[in-house]
Amino acid sequence: MRISVIGCGYLGAVHAAAMTKLGHDVVGVDVDAAKVAALSAGRAPFYEPGLTELLTETLASGQLRFTTDIAEIKGARVHFVCVGTPQKRGEFAADLTYVDAAFAGALPHLSDGDVLVGKSTVPVGTAERLAVNLQGSGATLAWNPEFLREGLAVQDTLHPNRLVYGVPSGVPGARAKVVLNEVFAAPLAEGVPLVVTDYATAELVKVAANSFLATKISFINAMAELCEATGADVTGLAEAIGYDERIGRKFLNAGLGFGGGCLPKDIRAFMARAGELGVDQALSFLREVDSINMRRRVRMVDLAREVCNGSIVGRRIAVLGAAFKPDSDDVRDSPALSVAAQMQLQGAHVVVTDPQAIENARLKWPDLTFAKTAEEAATGADVVLLATEWAEYRELDPIRLAAVVREKRILDGRNVLDPEAWRVAGWTYRALGRR
Ligand code: UDX
Repeated sequence: MRISVIGCGYLGAVHAAAMTKLGHDVVGVDVDAAKVAALSAGRAPFYEPGLTELLTETLASGQLRFTTDIAEIKGARVHFVCVGTPQKRGEFAADLTYVDAAFAGALPHLSDGDVLVGKSTVPVGTAERLAVNLQGSGATLAWNPEFLREGLAVQDTLHPNRLVYGVPSGVPGARAKVVLNEVFAAPLAEGVPLVVTDYATAELVKVAANSFLATKISFINAMAELCEATGADVTGLAEAIGYDERIGRKFLNAGLGFGGGCLPKDIRAFMARAGELGVDQALSFLREVDSINMRRRVRMVDLAREVCNGSIVGRRIAVLGAAFKPDSDDVRDSPALSVAAQMQLQGAHVVVTDPQAIENARLKWPDLTFAKTAEEAATGADVVLLATEWAEYRELDPIRLAAVVREKRILDGRNVLDPEAWRVAGWTYRALGRR
């Protein structure tokens, strides 16, 4: 099937390559000429495991191309809108400028029978509004939210854990479903569950899922605060409650909390939308989820101060990790960088390292010092903070690292190190929610 993908960022670039891999003929469109040039040359504009290989393979097949010219979507039967919906400046609400521009740009090039598929995360009610604009074009709008995780984006797109179609009622909806089933024939044949519903439900599924995940993380981080006040251990607590299948152990990792380009802005946009709908009380708990999450960053700076006997002024602090999560170079709302910047602003000399995200981090916080490796960052450090749990930091050897630091103090911001191993090697080990 001929498919167009409008917007080739984290979501669209992966989606375009994955759709080609599934056997379709794909054109990816983006307004950013540099991004289009990189993708056309098989270079991923961001770090995502497996994406370069997938791009190389699919470009070589001749079934995938990228362009800045929106008119080239003409002839495709299905058009996926994958543009960003960032948080508005100074507001909680989502900025729909790019979604509206993508729809306006696509509209003149649609043909009778085309299916325009929204994948961007939008406030509930957006699809219904956009569908009105399509009337008369002969095209049908469907909403197909995306649940991919950065770092696992290729796998999540090729083998999603569920598919959701939000479609209109009647014949147009039934037709859109048939077309989407053809697009996703391969994952459907693997037995991927499919939920076919209305626009509003499909839009809500995405923000509800992200709100639930954020709530789970903030729940365990709230328990970490209780553990800190009582001398209990949050990792033991998470393990024990996680054995209850109704609760489950996943997303109960206490630490510096959530960040990234999705969870924080999605829960805020959800609260803003609930306010517009007159049901803000229903989501007032998300305010607390947000506050608990942000408090962890403040607590980590306090913990650094505590281990430095009351002051971080002039102390050298090594921060391991700048990306908001491992296997990504995305630094949007990164807890690691937020803590690094706060410590720097409070007088510490902070040296940050990350296997992939240094360039992005430097653009955002040019005042921080950056090092290529954990050992280089830790050299002469008074404190080492593990802020993003990249595999190479989880596996750090406390004996080797002890040889380069000034003071053997380790802060485990993600609760992934073995406290015993570090203490035996002479380190002061501290973490959020642990003795
Ligand atoms: C998230 C959703 O998981 C995904 O379904 C959606 O499509 C986009 O948003 P992503 O932002 O890639 O994906 O990251 P995710 O793996 O969900 O992690 C989000 C943040 O939560 C990270 O900063 C991570 O470090 C943090 N986290 C995650 C915790 O602090 N504790 C946990 O137990 C899990």
